[in-house]
Amino acid sequence: MERLVNKRILLGVTGGIAAYKSADLVRRLQDAGAEVRVVMTAGACEFITPLTMQALSGHPVHTDLLDPRAEAAMGHIELARWADLVLIAPASANFMARMAHGHGNDLLTTLCLATGAPIALAPAMNQQMWADTATQKNLLILQEKGVRLFGPGSGSQACGEVGPGRMLEPAEIAQMAAEVFDHDLLTGLHVVINAGPTREAIDPVRYITNQSSGKMGFAIAEAAAEAGARVTLISGPVNLPTPTRVKRTDVIRAEEMFDACLSAVDQGCDIFIATAAVADYRPTVTADHKIKKSTEEIHLTLVKNRDIVASVSAHDRRPFTVGFAAETRDVMTYAQAKLENKKLDMIATNDVSGENVGFNSDNNALTVIWPGGHKVLPLAAKRQIAKQLIELIAIRYKR
Ligand code: C5P
Repeated sequence: MERLVNKRILLGVTGGIAAYKSADLVRRLQDAGAEVRVVMTAGACEFITPLTMQALSGHPVHTDLLDPRAEAAMGHIELARWADLVLIAPASANFMARMAHGHGNDLLTTLCLATGAPIALAPAMNQQMWADTATQKNLLILQEKGVRLFGPGSGSQACGEVGPGRMLEPAEIAQMAAEVFDHDLLTGLHVVINAGPTREAIDPVRYITNQSSGKMGFAIAEAAAEAGARVTLISGPVNLPTPTRVKRTDVIRAEEMFDACLSAVDQGCDIFIATAAVADYRPTVTADHKIKKSTEEIHLTLVKNRDIVASVSAHDRRPFTVGFAAETRDVMTYAQAKLENKKLDMIATNDVSGENVGFNSDNNALTVIWPGGHKVLPLAAKRQIAKQLIELIAIRYKR
């Protein structure tokens, strides 16, 4: 069930006696780590109240397509985009008919038309209604459209009849929902990423830092979360929003970043990706007060910072460790040396001497090297490059 961690499930509830079981389903999905938002049809509201579902899901329940207040909070298109899975349980015969024929005459059918996420139905109806040729034809249309079917089960029904048409139990539906995400590359793994620059204080108002914007690391964190991982992002001072589903810790100095990273690895981490431009040196002492410009020259003494990624790769519970190498010349030679010296599993290298790639740019091009192989990821948006890098990491990790 780890596959449901961080997943966003839009639970559609339609009118049927099995709607009472959807309350339990919300709980089961949440217990497995999913975030659940509920949409109810008018029929569903006759069987179970939106208030019950709101209390359980922790979010307002959406019922109307044309409600200006609900649209202002989270519009139907936004909701359709938000979902990783649209799960309709129970799905009535009427709903299946409307969906099969592309209706958009209420919120739930409209969402089904508007979403790019997979859709799954857990049908629930009288066995005769299920067996009816119209329902079976609608089912074929829906399956052809790629809609997944969870059940129905067979057995005694609320109407007193016996046969196929019972909604599956919530535990079974939650399990099948988890299986939808089977293909995710990093499902169930904890990925720790550091990003951005560090700031090494000279005095209370001055510091040493570098050009890193953190964009590449943040894009990788987002791609890892999308690939199903639980992501911890340890960030230096940057001006970027936290990607959704990512746990972020902010640090300033290299030593703070060292402690945060090593403590995350102590707690158990499967993959560590060091994108941060950690300051190599820090002032030996930080002045307590602002340094006055009294002399013509001042001398700063710097001391080397500990290498975070090398310490992670030397850890007892060593994760799969990926480093970065930003260079302005002899990129491959330096990167190869770092791969070996820091005992990394992989290193992503880029030439930051050009204008179109590297630190502040939205684009990047990388050459990814591992012992015995390499791959070039040509110039593309950082988000695109991040996705490709995560795919490569997942392949190498699984070997
Ligand atoms: O040795 P260099 O700084 O060029 O290596 C770059 C790689 O090492 C990056 O992955 C960077 O995050 C990491 N690094 C580190 N700790 C340092 C310096 C660099 O983890 N103190």
